[in-house]
Amino acid sequence: MGGPVVLGIESSCDETGAGIVRNGKLLAHVVASSMDEHARFGGVVPEIAARAHLQSFTPVVRQALDQAGLRLGQIDAVAVTTGPGLSGALQVGLAGAKSLAYAAGVPLYGVHHLAGHVAADTLEHGPLPTPCVVLIVSGGHTSLLLVRDLVREPILHLGDTLDDAAGECFDKVARILGLPYPGGPAIDRAARDGDPRAVHFPRPLTRGGDDPYAFSFSGLKTAAARWVEKHRLRGIDVPVADGAAALQEAVADVLSRKALAACKAYDVKTLIVVGGVAANSRVRALTEQRCAAAGVELRVPPMTLCTDNGAMIAAVGDLLVRSGAEPAPLDVSTDPSAPLKYASLTPLPAQLARAA
Ligand code: KG4
Ligand code: ZN
Repeated sequence: MGGPVVLGIESSCDETGAGIVRNGKLLAHVVASSMDEHARFGGVVPEIAARAHLQSFTPVVRQALDQAGLRLGQIDAVAVTTGPGLSGALQVGLAGAKSLAYAAGVPLYGVHHLAGHVAADTLEHGPLPTPCVVLIVSGGHTSLLLVRDLVREPILHLGDTLDDAAGECFDKVARILGLPYPGGPAIDRAARDGDPRAVHFPRPLTRGGDDPYAFSFSGLKTAAARWVEKHRLRGIDVPVADGAAALQEAVADVLSRKALAACKAYDVKTLIVVGGVAANSRVRALTEQRCAAAGVELRVPPMTLCTDNGAMIAAVGDLLVRSGAEPAPLDVSTDPSAPLKYASLTPLPAQLARAA
């Protein structure tokens, strides 16, 4: 099938990703992760991540081209995450992407990382229904979005976490419980043998006057830490499985409750859940159950597309190219704390006109 071929590059955190997309179809998807190098520090170390990107960039891009059976000269555009993310990590990806675009003589597009997460689902389930609600839940973000046309209209940011991200909460509580990093999968495994009702953890920001779409997980983390401490002070074994199951229940309850409240308020019939925490068995089961009860279709892309990758950035690039969006100038820079408004971090002429 014809259409422009778009190479996408992702390097905002600890994954170096390169993906190739043409006409909404995935042609290549390669990721190298530096996660193991951060494990002993209990979290991502920015300098280590940036160096790992530098080492992985060329092999990952080369492998993606091989997978698609293409040469660099056959690429029609390069899309790259320019923010948000770790500054040094973003800079490595952007410098590499600029070099490729310049060498191949093709346009470059700067993409918002979260828009990439949204677009990931299109590679598995086709174009996004308009409008849809998207819940992004990973180690770095917890956001609830109302998405219309992803590359032509502003993305409505309904809510965000005020403190820790959902995955961060899993990771930190896992550490307190003595489980390995990354904590999310470890908590999921431990929870299988636990009773979620054994302990009741708080459901932050779910009371009447609270912001219906904002999240907060640091209080939940503290509640879990106190619960562990109470056992240790009394010299009794911490019932790790029960704690894991109860924590997972609290997170799943809050996430699914708020996501479905957004679907109801905006009369949306499709909910998309992306990010590493979408892998959580209880988050999936409870969200499925609540979506079915509310008549909302639930779309969750496969895990390899949920976690950070270049294919999702290529997917946004592909939509931008096909919508005739303006490419980025070669002196475009990174924006580590880019707010989410548009999928492209290069303003479209219409946006510029509106801003003037
Ligand atoms: O999207 P992701 O791979 O990377 C970014 O943070 O961008 O998300 C990683 C997060 C980690 O916090 C990890 O603990 C969490 O996703 N995670 C899970 C599960 N698998 C991964 N959390 C809960 N249950 C899981 N099964
Ligand atoms: Zn991410």
